Order: sequence, then C-alpha cells, then structure tokens
Amino acid sequence: MSTPDATLAGTFAIGGDLVVNRLGFGAMRITGPGIFGPPADRDEAIRVLKRVPELGINFIDTADSYGPHVSEELIREALHPYAKGLVIATKAGFQRPGPDDWRIDCRPEQLRRGIEGSLKRLGVEQIDLWQLHRIDSKVDRRLQFETIKSFRDEGLARHVGLSEVSIADIEEARRYVPIATVQNRYGPTDRHSDDVLDYCTQHGIGFIPWAPLGSGRLARQDSVLDAVARRNNATPSQVAIAWALQRSPVVLMIPGTSKVAHLEENTAAAGLKLSAADIAELDRLG
Ligand SMILES: NC(=O)c1ccc[n+]([C@@H]2O[C@H](COP(=O)([O-])OP(=O)(O)OC[C@H]3O[C@@H](n4cnc5c(N)ncnc54)[C@H](OP(=O)(O)O)[C@@H]3O)[C@@H](O)[C@H]2O)c1
Repeated sequence: MSTPDATLAGTFAIGGDLVVNRLGFGAMRITGPGIFGPPADRDEAIRVLKRVPELGINFIDTADSYGPHVSEELIREALHPYAKGLVIATKAGFQRPGPDDWRIDCRPEQLRRGIEGSLKRLGVEQIDLWQLHRIDSKVDRRLQFETIKSFRDEGLARHVGLSEVSIADIEEARRYVPIATVQNRYGPTDRHSDDVLDYCTQHGIGFIPWAPLGSGRLARQDSVLDAVARRNNATPSQVAIAWALQRSPVVLMIPGTSKVAHLEENTAAAGLKLSAADIAELDRLG
C-alpha cells in the first residue's frame, strides 16, 4: 500500500467555506473502556493525535460526551495551538453517567453548557462545526433547532450539523438554520442511510459516516471485505474507507482508532481506487 496521505482523498468544503481533506479522524476511541475516562494508553493516544496532521488529515470529529471531556482535552493537549486549516467538529446532546451509558439530553440549557464547555476545553473562540448529537424526543424540536440556530447567530459555532437523522428531520431543521453536515451510521454493510446520503449529495451537505469500519468488525482479517481487499493488495479497513469515499463526493470519513499503526493503515486508503466490479461486489453486501 502507498504512503499514507489524506490529501489523496480530495477535498470537501463544509458549509461552502471550510475546506477539508475527505479522509479525517474520529477521536472517540482515544478514551477509556465504554468511551469513559482516560484511555488505557495515554501516550499512544497523544501520539495518534500528533500523527494526524503529519498524515495530511485536517478534519477531526469529537464530542463533549467522549470520556466525557477526555477526547476534547487530549486534542487540545496534543495539537494546540492548532495548525492553520485544521477543522475540529464536536457535538453535544448526551449525558454520560458511566461507561457505555449514553442518555440523550438536549434541553437548550444543557446544549449551551455543552458548547460553552467545548469552547473552553478545545481552547477556541468558535467551534468550526458543532453537531446536535441526537434530536431529543423529550424536548420540543423547535427549541432544539432554535438553540442550534442561536449558536450560529452568536458566532459560537461557524457551522452546525445533525446526527442520526432522517430526510424529514433535516428538512425541518433547515427551516431554522443552514445544516452543513449530517453524521449517520453508515458503511458498506450498513446502508440504512442510503436515502439520507443521496439527499445530502443533492444538496451539497457533508455526510459523515460514523462507525465506517462497523466499529472494528469490518477491519478484521476475517471481515466480509477480505476478498476485495486481497485483490487490491489492501486491508479490509482500507476497502471500507475507499468504498465510502467513492460512494459520494460529499462523504467525509472519520474512521476511529487508538493506535498509530491503524491510523496510518486507514489513511493509506485515501490512495486506493476500487474498480467498478469491486464496488458492485461490495454493494451486494449491503
Ligand atoms: N454521531 C454519533 O452518534 C457517533 C457514534 C459513534 C461514533 N461516532 C464518530 O465516528 C467515529 C468512528 O466510529 P467508531 O470509532 O465508533 O467506529 P469505526 O471507525 O467503525 O471503528 C473503530 C474501531 O475499529 C478499530 N480499528 C480502526 N482501524 C483499524 C484497523 N486498521 N485495523 C483493525 N482495527 C481497526 C478500532 O480499534 P483500535 O483502537 O484498536 O484501532 C476501533 O475499535 C468515532 O471516532 C466518532 O468520532 C459518532
């Protein structure tokens, strides 16, 4: 496989003006078990983050709930002052009482505490891309959309996005505020958001697949992607990433890892071009 270079993935302009390489980094895995507390190997987590810009990656996805706070704090420790052009996306909308425990809470005051905390922890005056982690069914939807509009109007966030939403949700939110990105679970074997991705492609909205490696399942050597990987002299994780990058020009990848070796392997997928036959074979898996 070629030298890892995220610039080979091409670029996408978030909100029309924040240009990033389409292969980014998901910073959820640099936390403890159950995405709670500090990572088992803190030094390696810092090495991963420091390696990110060296590989041409200039888009990092995190959230106030990863740790909670741990992921954002490590990003600042490893990378602040940030290189020009580095775009950091974060989110709020979950309370984290313990490992693997995620409780949606999008009351306006809670979202505001979230963005204000992220600004401090990341050490920035404005969040490049702030995402509503979920729409909270217990809170008036209008209030949630008005709150994210206020973050944009007040300059706390340059752009805003949504996560785990339908086309109807996006259209409703867009009546309040421009939606720059949508982050839904998606991958070659997880196609429930095909319609949302097509909608984003039509409307120039960035689409950020989460768990693009099936939370690690697709990256294993016995993965269903292994045959295509072998044919391309690549690894299964690289095939999953290349497939999504080829699926639409609005796709922004954020594969997650806590290891430098995996970060390098995943980034090398930016240079992998799958044939039409490979794509057809992978599409049949979905
Ligand atoms: N919006 C949401 O609701 C939401 C939900 C979940 C995640 N996310 C975002 O999406 C990002 C990616 O999702 P994810 O981390 O859950 O899942 P993922 O990217 O599909 O998979 C990550 C897992 O795969 C393993 N892995 C990564 N590269 C590998 C490689 N080359 N070989 C073997 N194993 C490899 C990692 O383990 P190692 O650490 O051992 O490499 C990790 O356990 C997150 O970091 C986060 O930013 C968003």
